[in-house]
Amino acid sequence: MKPKVLTENEIAEMLTKVTEDEISEYKSYSLTHLKDTILATGTPGGATVKDTEGNEYLDCTSQAWTLNVGFVNPDVVYATQFQAERLTHVRYSYPTIPRIKLINKLAQIAPGNLKKVTIQNQGGSTAIEAAMKLAFLNKPDASIFITTWMAYHGATLATITASNWMPSPLIRFRGFGQEHFVKAPYPYCYRCRKGQDPKDCDMECLELLRNTIIYGTNAPVAGVIIEPMQGPGGQVPAPQRYIEGLRKLCDEENVFMIWDEAQTAFGRVGKMFAAEIYNVVPDMMCLTKALGGGLPAGATLARDDLKEHFRYTEEHSTFGASPLIMAATLINIEVIQRLNLPRRAEKLGTLITKRLQEIQEKNEHIGDVRGPGLFIGVEMVRDKKDKVPANSLADAIVHEGLKRNVIFDLSMAHHRDMRFVRNVVKVKPPLTITEEQANHAVDVFEESLNAALKNLSVL
Ligand SMILES: Cc1ncc(COP(=O)(O)O)c(C=O)c1O
Repeated sequence: MKPKVLTENEIAEMLTKVTEDEISEYKSYSLTHLKDTILATGTPGGATVKDTEGNEYLDCTSQAWTLNVGFVNPDVVYATQFQAERLTHVRYSYPTIPRIKLINKLAQIAPGNLKKVTIQNQGGSTAIEAAMKLAFLNKPDASIFITTWMAYHGATLATITASNWMPSPLIRFRGFGQEHFVKAPYPYCYRCRKGQDPKDCDMECLELLRNTIIYGTNAPVAGVIIEPMQGPGGQVPAPQRYIEGLRKLCDEENVFMIWDEAQTAFGRVGKMFAAEIYNVVPDMMCLTKALGGGLPAGATLARDDLKEHFRYTEEHSTFGASPLIMAATLINIEVIQRLNLPRRAEKLGTLITKRLQEIQEKNEHIGDVRGPGLFIGVEMVRDKKDKVPANSLADAIVHEGLKRNVIFDLSMAHHRDMRFVRNVVKVKPPLTITEEQANHAVDVFEESLNAALKNLSVL
């Protein structure tokens, strides 16, 4: 299809050229402060991206842990273009071929009996809110959700409250619905309060969660919303025994177990879903990030025996059914399966993690290296014994990495004294990263750590 009102050149010019004046003008208008680097062109299906000045970066963040199939994945792009020439928008109530096939696909690949599907084009927060709405519909007397310390579930006014981030330097206001959320501890084994080993500990955190459901609320509990492996909270996978125990606990207490697999699904942890690692199936699962292959998609899966489903008016939005995004998402999942990206994440994740652990042995400031797969976090501490979070060191590593054209980023967490900390460096590249690039990322991490240590007088 050719443009009719503008010329091809005009459009290309508008989308690829920017002047210094335009940049300073936008800065004066934008309500949101953005980074200085202007990203322009990704390597098709790869882990690198160029900025407007031609600098190339190896991206160990997959742009918010999203591009599992790499930047501008050729199949995803082709599907998007193909669909764009046919139909770009329909009202939420209309099915389209990509949407029908995507619903079927998600039900087919979903763990266990999570065969009920709703998809939208907003992302994770909306997927979480859909699960909350579905829980309310199926437990009409309940009004409380238990969420966990250090959780992040989104930035809408409800999911901000479900998260554990405010007030903090990152989120300075309070969300809505404080009365609907009660927080319980997350199993952060590296900082276990009792110094126990998760293999044979007494699972006090689980008991605390049970007691929170029983004694810590003034109304019936609808569900426990939890990331089986916390991403923003510091790359913290819950131990197997905790997840198995939580499944049992939710059944015993008759509350929904709602998993936020925003960051873990679609191969990142070495399996399609974290649920496959634990061999535990929640009652609902919220998906986004890598779901759309770079396009904005979110989905909520639910148990197939739930009595109440949504009326159209209860779960819809104007742009929630974009055929473009449904098409891209459908093809994205197919690409993940055909390339067996979960297996690739497992293999390259093991390579990176092992090498980081070797560096950890020689270095006093790497407290913990956590996977699984390419869901990697490196927890920086003042020293291995006191485990005091080394925020500025973690920050300096990210800074030094960028100087060496590798993009790392930080997680966010509250330490036990509720001081705000960001001391976990995330290494979460596209799952299509090559072995050579994976090794390069670790080399740069080590160089950046050494450079950061040289420059920092106090940790
Ligand atoms: C674990 C988790 N849940 C939910 C969300 C919210 O997703 P979105 O930003 O698409 O609303 C995020 C986003 O970072 C996330 O990491």
